[in-house]
Amino acid sequence: MGKNKTKFNYPPFVMPVSLVGANVGGKPNFEAIAWFNLVDYQPNLISISSEKTHHTNKGIRENKTFSVNIPSASMAAATDFCGVYSGSKVDKSKTFDVFYGELKTAPMISECPVNVECRLNQTLELLHGEVFIGEIVGVYMENKYLTDNKPDTRKIDPLLFEGTLGSYWKVGEHVAKAFGIGKNYKPKQSNDNRE
Ligand SMILES: Cc1cc2nc3c(=O)[nH]c(=O)nc-3n(C[C@H](O)[C@H](O)[C@H](O)COP(=O)(O)O)c2cc1C
Repeated sequence: MGKNKTKFNYPPFVMPVSLVGANVGGKPNFEAIAWFNLVDYQPNLISISSEKTHHTNKGIRENKTFSVNIPSASMAAATDFCGVYSGSKVDKSKTFDVFYGELKTAPMISECPVNVECRLNQTLELLHGEVFIGEIVGVYMENKYLTDNKPDTRKIDPLLFEGTLGSYWKVGEHVAKAFGIGKNYKPKQSNDNRE
């Protein structure tokens, strides 16, 4: 097979990086979070995993709200800034133009193409991190990031992160339509029960 068991225990997954926002003592703070994901639907839930000591965590615990903002590739430096300095030492409240949605306490970033406003649903305590699961109460976008009224990945141009080497990337070419290209796929061997 030619495969070796490697030492890359943070697998080289490429994932979008977000900026998670929370008000700490009434002041917006943002941290870079690559470990975020949708985890359920109706209600739609999103999880973020943030180390317990982080300044942002204080604000999430305080207000029970947070935001997940998707920066575009052109925002790599500002995103990295929020990922290398803690709000406990550096004031990051003026890094971006901030707006609020219906929850009033989840600061969102005007410059990011996609903003997700969340109400804390539950918290999972791990050894080092806290997984905050938020109910999505609003997703905000400007029309300039839509084509035919739908989100356009090329226009959003999300910033991607690869953790093994610690590198930023951008999205490449469109491959195929999901929930479509697999329908007529012929596996090497199968008991084909497709209808
Ligand atoms: C690209 C990138 C991704 C990161 N992803 C995470 C993450 O998923 N979880 C986490 O706890 N910290 C992550 N960090 C580290 C935090 O962003 C960093 O510790 C930050 O300074 C915490 O800020 P705060 O103390 O103001 O909350 C990441 C940093 C970078 C640069």
